[in-house]
Amino acid sequence: MNEARVQEFVYQVVNDAAASMSGVMTNIGHKLGLYKAMAGAGAITPKQLAQKTNTKERYVQEWLNNQAAGGYVIYHPTTRAYELPDEHAMVLANSESPVFMSPAFDLISSMWLDEDKTIDAFQTGKGIGWHEHHPRLFCSCEAFFRNGYKTYLTNSWIPALSGVEAKLKAGAKVADLGCGHGASTIIMAQAFPNSTFFGFDYHFDSIATARLRAEAAGVADRVHFEVATAKDYPGNNYDLVCFMDCLHDMGDPVGAAKYTKQVLSKDGTILLVEPYAGKKLEDNLNPIGRMYYASSTAICTPNSLSQEVGLGLGNQAGEERLAQVMSEAGFSHCRRATATPFNLILEVRI
Ligand SMILES: C[S@@+](CC[C@H](N)C(=O)[O-])C[C@H]1O[C@@H](n2cnc3c(N)ncnc32)[C@H](O)[C@@H]1O
Repeated sequence: MNEARVQEFVYQVVNDAAASMSGVMTNIGHKLGLYKAMAGAGAITPKQLAQKTNTKERYVQEWLNNQAAGGYVIYHPTTRAYELPDEHAMVLANSESPVFMSPAFDLISSMWLDEDKTIDAFQTGKGIGWHEHHPRLFCSCEAFFRNGYKTYLTNSWIPALSGVEAKLKAGAKVADLGCGHGASTIIMAQAFPNSTFFGFDYHFDSIATARLRAEAAGVADRVHFEVATAKDYPGNNYDLVCFMDCLHDMGDPVGAAKYTKQVLSKDGTILLVEPYAGKKLEDNLNPIGRMYYASSTAICTPNSLSQEVGLGLGNQAGEERLAQVMSEAGFSHCRRATATPFNLILEVRI
């Protein structure tokens, strides 16, 4: 037994415990608008922050101390004021920023709220359907992914597919499978007004919300949301079929891809967006892989195991395994179109 290593590991776990508890604080700061009120305000006292946010000073004081201990805000001892640096405001306060991370914590809270179900799944081997999760998951997932889609989907990922952008500009037919609240569908519809978009998801409540989102965004004329699975969605001759962070969630991804092959136009394209993963497990042993393996254990793999076939790909399947799925479904072409630190973007064609 190496005592120094024990101590070192205790600190590592303390650090994780502090981060987990502070995640609750981050969520509270986000929901109460504390970060938003601090953004661009310079150094601010607890009293001023409480006044700005209609909250109580004593609670705000304690919260700020937690934030300072974590390095989220800077403490100025001489004035006893606290400051949210502009760079941190991009991540915590600016809901339009491509690096806005605050919704991640509400997603994590849904994992805690569903912990009993996950424990039961470990013991029984049963799955947990997306619809069985705490509703916090649905909105936080939408909010967590939306800004990445806003930044990259129409500006980088679609242009990286051969010939697809021109088709969408001219007027194409697009299906967005496992669309959830339809963030990606609506962003595409806003960018390509001549095209028609169909968003499908098996989860009734998500589709109901997606319809409201399309109306609010003023694109309901060209976006249609319907409850359907990836193996029975209506329509054919699609120019583009998108699987946005959902193929690995499906019980039968090969079946979904096979079905898509039948309804895709002859020169159509699949846009497959999946969480970033390296080739080997060893490549994923880092904070991003750690985060993804956790959500895969509690959310993605159980969803897959709740459906027929129950392949359980996991969200760290990686490029080679995803290409294998596509090849088994009869697609001969699968290439990496582009990537970000969080996403792999694959182009799949017949
Ligand atoms: C991680 S969420 C992604 C949602 C959305 N694409 C996004 O990026 O915000 C996965 C989605 O896949 C849907 N889903 C899972 N299995 C499905 C299936 N077999 N057919 C259709 N949708 C499915 C879930 O209901 C959920 O909305």
